[in-house]
Amino acid sequence: MAVNILAIETSCDDSSAAVITDGREIKSNIISSQINIHKKFGGVVPEIASRKHLEALPYVVQEALAEAGMSFREIDGIGVTYGPGLVGALLVGLSYAKAAALALEKPVIGVHHLEGHINAGFLEYPELTFPLVALVVSGGHTSLVYLPRRGEYVLLGQTRDDAAGEAFDKVARHLGLGYPGGPAIQEAAMQGDKERLVFPRAWLEEGSFDFSFSGLKSSVLNYLNKCKMKNEPYNVPDIAAGLQEAIGEVLSVKAVAAAKMKGVDKVLLAGGVAANRRLREMLQARGARENIQVFWPSPVLCTDNAAMIGCAAYYKYLKGEFSDLTLNAVPNLSLFTI
Ligand code: KG4
Ligand code: ZN
Repeated sequence: MAVNILAIETSCDDSSAAVITDGREIKSNIISSQINIHKKFGGVVPEIASRKHLEALPYVVQEALAEAGMSFREIDGIGVTYGPGLVGALLVGLSYAKAAALALEKPVIGVHHLEGHINAGFLEYPELTFPLVALVVSGGHTSLVYLPRRGEYVLLGQTRDDAAGEAFDKVARHLGLGYPGGPAIQEAAMQGDKERLVFPRAWLEEGSFDFSFSGLKSSVLNYLNKCKMKNEPYNVPDIAAGLQEAIGEVLSVKAVAAAKMKGVDKVLLAGGVAANRRLREMLQARGARENIQVFWPSPVLCTDNAAMIGCAAYYKYLKGEFSDLTLNAVPNLSLFTI
């Protein structure tokens, strides 16, 4: 019997619902983005995000079921992100999921947002097996994770300050490129010279798999301010290309070094920043030199979506890892088993 999971994701500014069959078949993956609303403020406004989730979620779920050609009765379990994220935003998805689970007498399955991002890889690549190293790069996280087997997450390193996506977003805002910054920086960088402006790379201590992007961000902003104060022209595409190169180099060098250290031959890129074409290119080139295969999800499965949550929930469903109706939102939820 096929297992159908209805999944819900509302941790930040995307209201999303999906129906996933047997952990791999995406029957639907509806995403209602709030970007146009938050754009005006240069970033996500938590209170507005919660209200918009409240308005959108019932319609998004209906659409997900309609596109999947299913009714609530055919759903076997409800997967939902319960952290980390914006507490008010998480609570909207969680309340919906718990109410639906109660009404349908089906289990609710709490999913960690990063576990969802990692599982996006399993939706698309049947050949992606354990052990592997995952590089999870988003607006809120930059983490290198070792997965010896399914459901086990060992933290190898993480950012000590800004996340990679945050560096993209903050620099983009100062360059007047708008929100979200990552795609805008990628676009601008295509017209730029990646070697003209070389910004600093924070390698940290020898052997460390941690990251730091706040120095890089400050260096770019200092350069920009200096140009403005001296009334000197500056080239936005060159700045974008220089920033993208610095972030891509540190991420790809450390991800490949982590895979080598763990003796694994697979690296999975996940999270919103995994949509970055230059990062993919750099990681793939560096991996190829070390016989390490690099995987990344399609762009729509890199940024926040419920399909990835449905995939993670499916494997928990198989193991009977159900939550109960006391499940609460945990804004700073940790993923790591070790
Ligand atoms: O995973 P995600 O949708 O939300 C979080 O969990 O944070 O990631 C959003 C982040 C934003 O910082 C956005 O600028 C970045 O992913 N991003 C990109 C690209 N597309 C999205 N960064 C670089 N290049 C991209 N193409
Ligand atoms: Zn995310």
